[in-house]
Amino acid sequence: MKELEDKIIQANSLESLEKVRVELFGKKGILAGEFAKMKDVPGPEKRAFAQGLNENKAKLQASFDARYEALKVEEIERVLKSEAIDVSLYGTVAQKGALHPVMETMDKIIDYFVALNFSVESGPMVEDDFHNFEALNLPKYHPARDMQDTFYFKDGGLLRTHTSPVQIRTMLETKPPIRMIAPGTVFRRDFDVTHTPMFHQVEGLVVDEKGKVSFANLKSILTDFLQYMFGDVDVRFRPSFFPFTEPSAEVDISCIFCEGKGCRICSHTGWLEVLGCGIVDPNVFKAVGYEDVSGYAFGLGVERFAMLMHKIPDLRSLFEGDIRLLEQFR
Ligand code: DAH
Repeated sequence: MKELEDKIIQANSLESLEKVRVELFGKKGILAGEFAKMKDVPGPEKRAFAQGLNENKAKLQASFDARYEALKVEEIERVLKSEAIDVSLYGTVAQKGALHPVMETMDKIIDYFVALNFSVESGPMVEDDFHNFEALNLPKYHPARDMQDTFYFKDGGLLRTHTSPVQIRTMLETKPPIRMIAPGTVFRRDFDVTHTPMFHQVEGLVVDEKGKVSFANLKSILTDFLQYMFGDVDVRFRPSFFPFTEPSAEVDISCIFCEGKGCRICSHTGWLEVLGCGIVDPNVFKAVGYEDVSGYAFGLGVERFAMLMHKIPDLRSLFEGDIRLLEQFR
């Protein structure tokens, strides 16, 4: 009897206790074996024998139940301990980015022109000579091609150096009147604090019947646009040259860093150059088969706008993929 009780007490897990239960109380267990001996006990002793067995069985059952309870509590405590969470520990903080300042600036530019009923057009980044140069009045021998350091493919294809080819594609696909902008990615072989080989431009084009589109329209829309982007700035138009416009102008805003007094960023001129524009050259209309129309066009670099609006000193930092840059724009 002591031996059987020890078996119960020594069981140190619910599994080993289960084994003991089968060994003692099972159908073929030790107690069943003892009860089977009844039939060999002489008649007068049967009663006392049975009583003794029943008492022992009850004692063993009580020990078993007590051990079971104790092991069960131990088990629960073990699980609770292993699943415990230390709420005072630091967790891993998920890194959160933000809309890239170039895309945010692009969206702001697009919003302005969409509100004025301009359509938003796009074209391929891999262009051909005709759309990127030829149709824009930049014939092969023209020295203005030197202004563009172009990535060429072996087959004569190229990565577009500006979004102006989208003008050509849109004019070839639709009929005037046209009021469009073309935001997009462009490529040039250039790399320093203000140039990266990949950057973004927004091109604009308005075409209508001859006499309906003037330089005065261009001046007024761009002045309003630049004040929308940069706030209360002065805007000036300087005569310039682009092969696809005649006359052409470069547009400056009064320096937003020194308010026109002159500083390092504006090279002490008080002005910052922000875009190019002009009246569409007749040769461009000829290339797309347009007659009796007039139009204006403009083009700007989105990175330059973003750099000025956010005072970002090195353009290359916009493309390093460092999350700390984005975190500043959340
Ligand atoms: N395509 C020019 C460039 O990449 C930008 C530009 C200037 C576009 C004047 C125009 C324009 O439409 O009229 O530098």
